[in-house]
This record gives sequence, structure tokens and C-alpha cells, in this order.
Amino acid sequence: MKKRLAVFASGSGTNFEAIAQACADGRLDAGVALLVCDRPGAPVVARAERFGVPSFVASPKSFGSKADFEREVIRRMDAVGIDLVCLAGYMRIVSDVLLDAYGGRIINIHPSLLPAFRGAHAVEQAVEYGVKVYGITVHYVDAVLDGGRIIAQRAFEYDGDDPEEVHRIGQKIEHALYVETIDKLLKEKK
Ligand code: GAR
Repeated sequence: MKKRLAVFASGSGTNFEAIAQACADGRLDAGVALLVCDRPGAPVVARAERFGVPSFVASPKSFGSKADFEREVIRRMDAVGIDLVCLAGYMRIVSDVLLDAYGGRIINIHPSLLPAFRGAHAVEQAVEYGVKVYGITVHYVDAVLDGGRIIAQRAFEYDGDDPEEVHRIGQKIEHALYVETIDKLLKEKK
């Protein structure tokens, strides 16, 4: 049976699209069963509509607490039977509520060679630091921000000072690396 993915995203959703497209093409033996988006109006929501992926879109502020928001997310993931949760530009730290329910089955993609440059501004910080070797990391999510066990990394060289260019190069690598890594994990789970 095809595995079911949930993708969590807050913004543009190019990684969401890369994953959904790989599912549609059969490059991934899986389907995106749910998009979770914490920013109503984010462009990723329209991408999900185009792919016919059901979404749960809500601001955690509209719930009593982040825990209540995550409980609702868990309820929706349990309802469709999610095998793997892929954070893809989800700019929010997940709490113990979600980790207790789905720990070990949540992965994230991050635009640096972890453990260097954690957090929301990794590329800008790396450029500011003047690094010459950049990279992308896919890792398991645990209670430490960008701190879980590393699953895959890919490096690239860049000797300039334009964060936009690093983002452009990095995102191409992200789309390929995330799909390859998800494929590998799903095959291991069989
Ligand atoms: C990606 O580059 C991802 O690595 C980054 O957000 C971007 C989302 O792009 N995530 C982080 O910085 C997490 N700390 P997308 O919405 O086009 O997929």
C-alpha cells in the first residue's frame, strides 16, 4: 500500500511541490495525504489545491494554545493514517505534544550543514560568516531546534555574498535531496 505523507509548511511551498510532484509522477511510492499550514494565505495553500491535496490551514493563535493546535493536527493526521511527517519550511518549533505522538516519524529539511547555522536565518548567517562551503541537511526532529539525528546532507561551494543566489542554488538541491531521502526512508520502513 502506498505510504501517506503529511507535509508541514509556512510559506512558498516549493519543497511541498517537489514532494507532491514526485508522488504524482510515481518517483515516490507515496501520496501527500495532508498539508498542514500555520499561515493562512501562504502560497503553499494554493499549491496544495492545484495538486488536490487536502489541507489543514489555521493560525495556532486561533486555538487556545500551541498544544491545542497540535492536538487538532494530530487528530487530522490520525484520521488519515500518516506514515511520515515532512517539515518543509515550517517556521515553528514543534512541541512535546506532537513529538510524543509522532516522534521518530518527523523529519525536517534545513538550509545549512548542521550543526552550523541553526534557526530561521541560516543562509543569511552563513553568507555573513563568509563560509565557502554551503549545504542542505535532512534530519529527524526532536526537542532541540534543528538538532535531531542527521539523515542526509549535500554540500555545494559558493564564493560570493548574495544570499538570494545561495537560496536559489540550495533550493534546487533541497528538492532533489528531500525526495531522495523520503524515498530511502519509506523503503526502509517496508
Ligand atoms: C527551505 O529553504 C527550507 O530549507 C527552509 O525554508 C525554506 C522553505 O522553502 N527551512 C528552514 O529554514 C527551517 N529552519 P519552500 O517553502 O519553498 O519549500
